[in-house]
Amino acid sequence: MSERIAVLTSGGDAPGMNAAIRAIVRVGIADGLEVFGVRHGLQGLIDDDIFRMNPRDVSNIIQRGGTILHTARSKEFMEIDGQQKAADNLRKHNIDGLLAIGGDGTFHGLVDLEKVWDGQIIGLPGTIDNDLYGSDFTIGFDTAINTALESIDKIRDTAESHERMFLIEVMGRWAGYIALDVTIASGAEEVILPDFDILECDQVARKLEEGKKKGKMSGILIVSERGKEGGVYEIAKELDKYGESGYRVTILGHIQRGGSPTARDRVLATKLGAYAVRLFQEGATGVMAGEMSGKLVAIPLKDTWTRKQEKPLDKFLLEILEPLAI
Ligand code: F6P
Repeated sequence: MSERIAVLTSGGDAPGMNAAIRAIVRVGIADGLEVFGVRHGLQGLIDDDIFRMNPRDVSNIIQRGGTILHTARSKEFMEIDGQQKAADNLRKHNIDGLLAIGGDGTFHGLVDLEKVWDGQIIGLPGTIDNDLYGSDFTIGFDTAINTALESIDKIRDTAESHERMFLIEVMGRWAGYIALDVTIASGAEEVILPDFDILECDQVARKLEEGKKKGKMSGILIVSERGKEGGVYEIAKELDKYGESGYRVTILGHIQRGGSPTARDRVLATKLGAYAVRLFQEGATGVMAGEMSGKLVAIPLKDTWTRKQEKPLDKFLLEILEPLAI
């Protein structure tokens, strides 16, 4: 009997997940494996939503956002009972390897699954947040920043016409990768990163007032969400206490998760999908397939969140924010 692998997408969807599924299905089958799909992420393992896939199932999906396998954030999988059920279903289908595309919530789930299932487990970094150690970029990040940028450019037209200040909240959970890149790319006046202390609002307001004296009558402040959507309203309220009130707030929200993946995301997803299949064939387990400094790497799943501090925000970009906004 040929070896069997299963693929799933879990957690928040990210553009490029379909490209990764396609690569896994096609490269896996071309290499003589039987490939199965799991619907609704880790929850689908519990619900036995597992089905055989063939190369035509992934035709015409490389350009599509979202995930054809659907996704979920499974509470049941956080409990040992859920993990046991998932392991039983994987055994029932004689699956030898599980390839899971997702972010750190998914990877925590995979580490739990390792304790109750002895098949091989390989993760692929799929999240718009780019907040995983072990891959310079995660699948979906490039598309998300380009989607956000398109909207920010449009808001700038209104900001300039009405001579207004806008606070624009972008996603990223506790990481500021999206915020920093779109700040630089949109030429925004200021960025408020997740570690920002609300008390620093007086300094930001002062800076904006100084800007007005220099003829800057409109402006964009990018605000990175701080673990939850909507935190920007707190900042707007605080800023209103200083300087002139009337900051307009826009939350870009889930628009950043959708849409056709960029070429960069399609290439990265395809490369990592194919590499994950190769890692399975080499006997690897408990690792994430990533790309660092142009090299394909296999990083222990736990390192993807415990070594996050080794993937800091670009220091040079942080340094030049100030002079760029004079
Ligand atoms: O992890 C991706 C992400 O979009 C984060 O940026 C955001 O904080 C979160 O997911 C939103 O999750 P949900 O779609 O479950 O509201």
